[in-house]
Amino acid sequence: MIKAITGTKDILPTEIRKWYHLENLVKKIFHNFNYKEIRTPVIEETSLFARGIGEETDIVSKEMYTFKDRSDTSVTLKPEMTAGVVRAFIEHSLGEKQPLTKLFYISPMFRQERPQAGRLRQFHQFGAEALGSSSPLLDAEMIEMAFEILRSLGLKDLSVKINSLGIPSARENYKSELRKYLSDKKNKLTEESKIRFEKNILRIFDSKAEQDQEIMKNAPLLIDYLDAESKNDFEVVKTYLKNLNIPFEVEPKLVRGLDYYTKTTFEIISGKVGAQSSLCGGGRYDLLVGELGGKPTPGVGFAAGMERILLACENENVLNPPEPSIDIYLVRIDNDLLLKISELASYLRKNDLTVDYDYLNRSVKAQMREANKMNARFVLFVGGDEFKNDELVLKNLSTGHQENIKLNELNKLISRLKNYVA
Ligand code: HAM
Repeated sequence: MIKAITGTKDILPTEIRKWYHLENLVKKIFHNFNYKEIRTPVIEETSLFARGIGEETDIVSKEMYTFKDRSDTSVTLKPEMTAGVVRAFIEHSLGEKQPLTKLFYISPMFRQERPQAGRLRQFHQFGAEALGSSSPLLDAEMIEMAFEILRSLGLKDLSVKINSLGIPSARENYKSELRKYLSDKKNKLTEESKIRFEKNILRIFDSKAEQDQEIMKNAPLLIDYLDAESKNDFEVVKTYLKNLNIPFEVEPKLVRGLDYYTKTTFEIISGKVGAQSSLCGGGRYDLLVGELGGKPTPGVGFAAGMERILLACENENVLNPPEPSIDIYLVRIDNDLLLKISELASYLRKNDLTVDYDYLNRSVKAQMREANKMNARFVLFVGGDEFKNDELVLKNLSTGHQENIKLNELNKLISRLKNYVA
């Protein structure tokens, strides 16, 4: 039997209500902040990610689904959205149409990581990017939107961690301090951290290995080496967050896994999802548009993992949308009435009611069972003596109340059912 590829997951009808709920909430909140949706292709030229995210990052060096297409071009399934959004921003000159471009997205992403709870190879992100302003007000707005979505879901065990990575020149000064600090200790680092020492020294802070953490405990911190502008912007972000009553902690060891960040970075962590605890992450990337060939334009954004969020909701026992129901189940009493039933169903459906009936030639009793299983609000019996008198029998399944409805008065029924609240 052919099965789904490791690390990919079917989202079954029983789970889809939670996805709808999350997607609708995300769209509503982004809409409230006046962000407009963008959809970019799932597949892009590999060089976009190599240049955008950084050759030495884990994502580019070992996690991307990259292959040659039939015309021998190296293409990649998108591992994140920021690079693609920036490519589209440049390609369509979005910045010329308005000075500040506020975009959001909901999309599948692909990373060939080792699958575990909350970590998949095809997963879904929602996120936002604001291009055109270096105001730290937007950094705070990103954190506010992410926090607002998670809070609206009912999640409580959340912590917002913020940091600043400064501008590249300040970061370079700091990196040489860090190199100095580690020079006589680097032999005690894990093999992976030794490689990071050479290629991407900041990421040593990400190591979960005790021996690395022990060494990094007393390492100099980037936040103490920030340039004046980054330091000032970081203070402004904190002031806005305090004013918006968003609880946060400064986490000087928060380094993100993508190379494009400058100044503010942040993550929101859940205490309820195990090792893969980061529900969302983001930050400022003031150089990326220029690096990808556009007119230098500052940007800031974040993305959140939807599977992880749904896992957190499950573990906190929040987000329980009501069981699905239908408005009317048409029960066929006489077998020769299928044509009439299909016509009735069509009419009611066109009038925006959710209607179903039996396609399997089942008995009245079995049809009633099916109506209950579907959580039907009403059953409409078609057939019998009433039908001979051009009437149908309507039964309210929650009260048991029954009444006759004239076939030529279905309009009245429709408006009643639409306004009916169970
Ligand atoms: P990221 O931290 O790589 O950032 O991913 C953001 C979120 O996506 C993570 O916090 C996590 O919830 C989810 N995620 C990442 N990998 C997986 C996976 N393998 N399985 C399940 N969920 C996952 C970015 O992608 C940046 N583009 C964010 C950004 C936007 N920065 C600026 N703008």
